[in-house]
Amino acid sequence: MNEDKTPIIIGSDHAAYQMKEKIKAYIIKIGVDIEDVGAYSEDSVDYPDFGIKVASSVSKGKFKRGILLCGTGIGMSMVANKFPHVRAALCNDLFSAGMSRRHNNSNILVIGGRVIGETLAMEILKTWLETPFDGGRHQLRIEKFDNL
Ligand code: RB5
Repeated sequence: MNEDKTPIIIGSDHAAYQMKEKIKAYIIKIGVDIEDVGAYSEDSVDYPDFGIKVASSVSKGKFKRGILLCGTGIGMSMVANKFPHVRAALCNDLFSAGMSRRHNNSNILVIGGRVIGETLAMEILKTWLETPFDGGRHQLRIEKFDNL
């Protein structure tokens, strides 16, 4: 069990707005501060605008971890992983969520709001929040690409 209480920055587009609200409520409930950069409704928006806000904050170290959601999770992953020090992991299953923390020290969780249901999304979120990084050889591997 990982008791990390560092604040989280979250963003989504319209396609995953409802899922973002559910995730946000859970994070507030467990006593972790969260900054929501939008979207704030289901009106159509452009996912890069929100991906850039979250990923640039994590890249600069303003936030240690973030969460991004869009319809598939693919667009948000593409945007986020352009930023140095961002290790955004698109996880639509539990195994990937755990491994993205253990082996990749993922600092942004990405979920596809139109790919999976809310129940699974919440389980993925909990796994991601609670799984620590293994370090060791995995740290050396991350150092090979983290600052490209
Ligand atoms: C929006 O229609 C959709 O393109 C977006 O949510 C996302 O899936 C992009 O990758």
